[in-house]
This record gives sequence, structure tokens and C-alpha cells, in this order.
Amino acid sequence: MTTASITTAPIPVIVNGATGKMGREAIKAIAAAEDMVLIGALARNPALLGQDIGEVLGYGALEVPITNDKEALFAMGSQQPEVPVVLDLTHPAVIYENVRAAIATAFSPSSARRA
Ligand SMILES: NC(=O)c1ccc[n+]([C@@H]2O[C@H](COP(=O)([O-])OP(=O)(O)OC[C@H]3O[C@@H](n4cnc5c(N)ncnc54)[C@H](OP(=O)(O)O)[C@@H]3O)[C@@H](O)[C@H]2O)c1
Repeated sequence: MTTASITTAPIPVIVNGATGKMGREAIKAIAAAEDMVLIGALARNPALLGQDIGEVLGYGALEVPITNDKEALFAMGSQQPEVPVVLDLTHPAVIYENVRAAIATAFSPSSARRA
């Protein structure tokens, strides 16, 4: 008989489009959740690169610097003990490309779309 193992470690999450309307709400929810931990925040604005995403959004320090280096962030995420989720909240025109890049590093991509 096999027994399914249940992990209690928080799910690591990377948010792409971190400073957009959906991104900031997602990060607020992740920061408040006990079963998720934000490990990456992707944004395009060069003025924000390297800044703490929590401080930029007014949530207090989350110790996650904003980056625009998707490949490096995915590579870091792929080294996590738990498989990260990539939450893509950018734009429909680029989500497919982003999901492909996430899948290439064995992530669990997710994106929001209007019904
Ligand atoms: N708002 C809603 O009520 C709602 C509901 C359901 C689903 N959605 C979906 O959620 C996603 C985000 O919507 P939103 O309302 O949060 O939009 P938003 O406020 O415009 O935020 C989009 C974010 O993605 C970034 N972004 C846009 N185009 C990009 C690209 N080509 N490459 C990389 N980053 C890019 C933007 O960066 P910059 O700041 O540099 O432009 C911004 O930070 C969309 O797919 C939308 O259809 C939105």
C-alpha cells in the first residue's frame, strides 16, 4: 500500500507583473498566507529594480528584490526544495512565452484571465 505524502512547507511563488493591479493584490495575499512564500518579483520599470517589492507596494519589507531577469529568477527557483509556482499577471500577449519559459524549468505556471 502506498501512502501519499503531505508537505507542510510553504509553496514558493514567483509573481510576474508584480507592480500591476493584479500583481500587487497577489503579493498582498501571498504575504498574508501561511502556506505560501514569495521568492521572486518580476517587473519592468528600471527605476524599481533591486528595490524590495513589499516596500515598493507599501506592505513592509518582504526581502524580495524586484528583478527583470526572468531566466535568472527561474533558475534560482528551480533550485528550491519545493517546486515553485509562477503566477503570471502581465499581459495576454506575453503570457504564453512566459509560461513556456516557466515550464522549461519544471515550474507550475499559473495566470489570471478574464472569463
Ligand atoms: N485587473 C483585473 O481586474 C483583472 C482581472 C482578471 C484578470 N486580469 C488579467 O491579469 C493580468 C494583469 O492585469 P492587470 O489589471 O494587473 O494589468 P496591469 O495593472 O496593467 O499590470 C500588468 C503588469 O504586467 C507588466 N507587463 C505588461 N506587459 C508586459 C510585458 N509585455 N512584459 C512584461 N511585463 C509586462 C506591467 O508592467 P509595467 O508596469 O512596466 O507596464 C504591469 O506591472 C492581465 O492578463 C489581465 O487580463 C486582470
